[in-house]
Amino acid sequence: MLDGRRILLVISGGIAAYKSLELIRRLRERSAAVRCVVTANATQFVTPLALQTLSGEKVFQDTFSLTDEHEIGHITLARDCDLVVVAPATANLLAKMAAGLADDLASTALLVTDRPILAAPAMNFRMWGHPATQANLATLAGRGVRTVGPNAGPLAEGESGIGRMAEPGEIVAAVEGLLAAGPLQGVKALVTSGPTFEPIDPVRFIGNRSSGKQGHAIAVALARLGAEVTLISGPVRLPDPAGIRTIAVETAREMLGAALANLPVDVAVCAAAVADWTVSNASREKRKKEPGAPPPAIELAPNPDILATLSEQGSARPRLVVGFAAETEKVVEHARAKRERKGCDWIVANDVSPASGTFGGDFNSVHLISAAGTEDWPRIAKSDVAERLAWRIADFLKPGGHG
Ligand code: PMT
Repeated sequence: MLDGRRILLVISGGIAAYKSLELIRRLRERSAAVRCVVTANATQFVTPLALQTLSGEKVFQDTFSLTDEHEIGHITLARDCDLVVVAPATANLLAKMAAGLADDLASTALLVTDRPILAAPAMNFRMWGHPATQANLATLAGRGVRTVGPNAGPLAEGESGIGRMAEPGEIVAAVEGLLAAGPLQGVKALVTSGPTFEPIDPVRFIGNRSSGKQGHAIAVALARLGAEVTLISGPVRLPDPAGIRTIAVETAREMLGAALANLPVDVAVCAAAVADWTVSNASREKRKKEPGAPPPAIELAPNPDILATLSEQGSARPRLVVGFAAETEKVVEHARAKRERKGCDWIVANDVSPASGTFGGDFNSVHLISAAGTEDWPRIAKSDVAERLAWRIADFLKPGGHG
């Protein structure tokens, strides 16, 4: 049921840590891959050797051992999974999470992860009931951290009350609930992102200000809903999103080649800022600045249009082709004309005038234009634009859906 889903299991130092062995066994029984991070205190209750034997993976404890180039870095470790499970989550670790502390590998991983987090608290009932713990839980819930348990019952110290970690079976059920198949399960998606660079000579190029933030966020949002995403990216400074097949290209022609090579797909989203022109007299050698000579002329030739090409693929055409329109004036009017001209189904219009801060920024204010009309979305984070668009795509692609 959890076929191939990757769980990062963070184990902190409480007596309930012994149950993590059973938890790993049950997760693996359901074909999940489990990688463990332990705190120093956790190793007092459960040995890394036992965890490694059951998980079949190396167990991580020390932040600095990950700096070795043969190891994965702590950022990758924290993001290369579908879900982070913290079990047991002690009062201390929950407090560190709420405060944003990162003084060991476990807390660092929890601070840098961009994956959903499920915590299974376990502690003495007085610690559970303490206003500090409850305030920390409220903070974490506000940030989207889910919890399972704790249960009431006998506690390790011979007392009784709320604080027992949820049983492994309950934690597995919560994991399955969180990783249930998204609405885009079985859907193949292609996303273009970032700028293209058109060479003038081996050291110079014509480029643009796209950072790839919007396109990459769309790839991530589609994948979160279960789509199998191929991201084709021009040169950007962003890391390849975890778990998404990313193809790096430089020029518009390379981007087109990669897009066509990855058909058929169900949906294509062209968020890349593709250069409209390439340099037709690009030089194989570096152009020299000759004393007294005039600057060289750069001749331009049109690039192929990737969005228009994808829209006219006949039987290989994606069921839904979504373009973006980067405009600096008459945003909606120009975008509507672009949708007609390029033959795509939807176009997402955004203002890219310098005052908008759209290029390279974290926010965007877009208009979704389709045959049905135009929707004006408020200015929101690019990740929220991406999530909203991904849900719209899921609605369109579901049986009987439209948009
Ligand atoms: O990357 P960020 O910093 O996050 O910024 C995001 C963004 C502003 C780049 C993004 O939201 C956006 O608007 N992308 C499209 C930019 C663009 O090239 O717009 P356009 O109006 O020039 O092109 C219209 C559409 O045709 C786009 O879908 C574009 O990908 C596509 N196109 C354009 C030219 C070309 N040769 N081939 C194409 O496929």
